[in-house]
Amino acid sequence: MKSAKIVGLGKYLPPKRLGNHDLEKIVETSDEWIRTRTGIEERRLAEGQSASDLAYHASKQALKNAGIKSSDLDLIIVASITPDSFFPSTACRLQKLLKASKAAAFDILAACSGFVYGLTCGWQMISGGLYQNILVVGSEVLSVVTDWQDRSTCVLFGDGAGAAVLTQSNSKCFLSSHLGADGSRSDLLCLPAGGSRKPASHTTVEKKLHCIKMRGNELFRVAVRVMVDSARIALSKAGLKENDLDILIPHQANKRIIDSVARTLKIEDKVYINVSRYGNMSSASCAVALCEAYQDGKIKKGDIVVLDTFGGGLVWGSCVIKWV
Ligand code: UT7
Repeated sequence: MKSAKIVGLGKYLPPKRLGNHDLEKIVETSDEWIRTRTGIEERRLAEGQSASDLAYHASKQALKNAGIKSSDLDLIIVASITPDSFFPSTACRLQKLLKASKAAAFDILAACSGFVYGLTCGWQMISGGLYQNILVVGSEVLSVVTDWQDRSTCVLFGDGAGAAVLTQSNSKCFLSSHLGADGSRSDLLCLPAGGSRKPASHTTVEKKLHCIKMRGNELFRVAVRVMVDSARIALSKAGLKENDLDILIPHQANKRIIDSVARTLKIEDKVYINVSRYGNMSSASCAVALCEAYQDGKIKKGDIVVLDTFGGGLVWGSCVIKWV
């Protein structure tokens, strides 16, 4: 049976930086609080660029690194909670920008786990023989759904995109995937309005219901437990143990969450962390972290790489990849 292999990675971070000291001028916060409670030092702002624009730059880089032409793509999957619009999908807009005329295209709404959900779909569609080349992207412009007067959320998020090109291969690269959800805890992190349940109205705008609402403290505790469990389940599905892992690429919501997950799994020296530079970019966090870890030379041939994500929905997802 055929399998899928990651052959190219790319990322794009918009140039505008917003540091903690800049936030001190907007809300009652401090660099010290943000650093110690989250590990974040700065984040990027897209300033007029949409999710498909960010995705385009990340995808171009991933395709170049893969040595694959956009015209050879069979499918484009974009994970985003900040799509350009509900429809056309961001994936369709990206297909146009890339001139990937042969590719089918669809979006995934799985919040911070969207990239792992997308990789899992891509892997299975290639393994099943349906497609040969698939582009998976996580792209977010969270700055447009951030309430810039709410200090409990506005210090956390940032904009960016990461992309991966998957192609059919005889080598087994994806060893396992574990995806999960708990819709009963959707109140912990959500964007209340703008969909069919609460359509946009003057009231929803006045009440800022088009901005992210989060019960951070409760979410924190769930995040640690779920990310630990998810990584363990994915590893055991691959027939591996925690000490077989070479590098953990976790969702980058909060350095304290990552440290706690790493401590529990006893892999403190094997974790990739970049939350200080970008904040939480939802679906783009894990995609950008994977790309950077590889570009920084932290992932070598033969390594066991575990992606481990968690986010609003609630959703979680982990993938075990052998870097071939
Ligand atoms: O991406 C999906 C997954 N995301 C997550 O899992 C996020 C999980 N949650 C978190 O990362 C953390 O809960 C936060 C970073 C959001 C908050 O950290 P915390 O340590 O849980 O703080 P807290 O919410 O318990 O608030 C502690 C204090 C409060 O003041 P009092 O009530 O103790 O006087 C807050 O009002 O910190 C205050 N506070 C702030 N102070 C300065 C909250 N935000 C700020 C701020 N600056 N930006």
